[in-house]
Amino acid sequence: MRVDLSLLVHIVYICTQFYQVHSLNILGVFPYQGKSHFFVFKPYLEELARRGHNVTVISCFPREKSMKNYHDISLADKVQVLEDVFPIKRSYYTIFQISVFLLSTGTSNCESLLADENVRNLVKSKAKFDLVLMELFNSDCGLGLAYKLGAPVVGLSSHQLMPWHYNRFGVPYNPSFVPFLLLEGGTKPTLYQRVERTIFDAYFNTAYKYFGQRVDQNTLAQYFDDIPPLEELARNMKFLLLYTNFLLTGSNLLPSNVIEVGGYHVAKPKPLPSELRKFIEESEHGVIYISFGSVLKATTTPIDKIEAITAALSELPQRVIWKWEGETLPGNPKNVFLSKWLPQNDILAHPKVLAFYSHCGLLGTTEAIYHGVPMVAMPIFGDQPSNAAAVEESGLGVQIQLNELSKAKLLEKLRTVLDPKFNQRVKKLSEAWHDRPISAMDSAVYWAEFAAQHHNFTFRTAAADVPLYQYLCLDILSVLIVLFLIFIGILKTLLKCIFTSKSSLQRSNKSKKQ
Ligand SMILES: *[C@@H]1O[C@H](CO)[C@@H](O)[C@H](O)[C@H]1NC(C)=O
Ligand SMILES: *[C@@H]1O[C@H](CO)[C@@H](O)[C@H](O)[C@H]1NC(C)=O
Repeated sequence: MRVDLSLLVHIVYICTQFYQVHSLNILGVFPYQGKSHFFVFKPYLEELARRGHNVTVISCFPREKSMKNYHDISLADKVQVLEDVFPIKRSYYTIFQISVFLLSTGTSNCESLLADENVRNLVKSKAKFDLVLMELFNSDCGLGLAYKLGAPVVGLSSHQLMPWHYNRFGVPYNPSFVPFLLLEGGTKPTLYQRVERTIFDAYFNTAYKYFGQRVDQNTLAQYFDDIPPLEELARNMKFLLLYTNFLLTGSNLLPSNVIEVGGYHVAKPKPLPSELRKFIEESEHGVIYISFGSVLKATTTPIDKIEAITAALSELPQRVIWKWEGETLPGNPKNVFLSKWLPQNDILAHPKVLAFYSHCGLLGTTEAIYHGVPMVAMPIFGDQPSNAAAVEESGLGVQIQLNELSKAKLLEKLRTVLDPKFNQRVKKLSEAWHDRPISAMDSAVYWAEFAAQHHNFTFRTAAADVPLYQYLCLDILSVLIVLFLIFIGILKTLLKCIFTSKSSLQRSNKSKKQ
């Protein structure tokens, strides 16, 4: 009888634990059209729906099959989805082009978002949401929407922080050791790179403020007349769930409400298509997998670079799987499997895949560390230079820059990562990646639920609120300098007094003696 009672108490206890987090009404705001971005968020939004939350998602990627608790508001017909559109090139000019691209898509997506009938109905019908999840990338427009709906906001990113996200969360941006998303140099930049990233940081922040945020603010004002400044709303965000992990991107200075949840998009590997599986399993010396992602166009790679790659590969005994949009490669190399589309995660999960030659997007890089596949990282645009630096610094792989790509150089890099000792170290890194107190997905879900339930508190660091002169301690320094000057002044006067009285004493002594 006693045993039964304690069992009953136990069951009641478990039930109350279950009921602690009730089903939340969640709105997701993802107007950006980059496939690689939404591919990170999709598994997370699905998981929230699976766990019983009512999830409404505004995005360009509506589901094909319906899912319980998951509702789409599609912007797909208003926005052009990005895929295979960027050429493989890199220069200061392409960085400038990226800034223009970021700001123009951000502001036009804000217009499409607010003009959407279904989105406007949400505001008109005063829909009640417990939480708004929104992508933090090239627009803060969704913050205005969340304000109108009166819901707390949790930001999501599919990459490291954008230059304009540091201030609002109080994350220190110090060019001496914080990588700049779009530039090389990692955490140990040269003086040249430190100056370079300081200039670009100032440029990106200024451009964002005047050609991004201000434009969005005006767009919002066309629909609503009471939206506070977007930067102020940005500071009131509860959390930022950052798609990084310190094992890959290094130990960073992050406040308590910026939480690393890198890794949750990686799915359990599925069986490979039979042709591909045969190609991998029949390889005697393993396979090198090459992909430059879903946005870059491999067929626009300069022809001499392609020839350098194929020449390097022909020196190696490994077979090659290459994501390539064309029918054939120049020179028709043997032992290469070409395809427009490949199940990347399932390929990387295969133990015979020994190296991954990549443009170093954060998704592919995350899948590589997850499965322990060494990388040769050739960054092209966006956050890839900083990801590639992280790959090298973490020991996941080595970098090769596009402008130094030659047969000999690539061969050297591939041989480095194909070395069994290198592979073993990467396997150890991958083991550490999986060793966590709570999975990335559980952590991301937990903090979203936490934000909804404890939304009356603010978790922002005081560092985000102090004026710049206090942040840099300029006032303290000024006071200390003034005190020091006063001290010197007093000392000088004192010494002067002592000397003059001493000399006058001596003089009077002298005159007494005479
Ligand atoms: C769930 O979301 C849908 C779509 O936004 C909405 O129509 C429905 O009323 C919501 N259900 C609950 C129980 O809040
Ligand atoms: C949050 O604050 C508002 C206004 O101050 C108050 O009405 C509400 O009850 C509070 N909610 C919780 C959960 O404490």
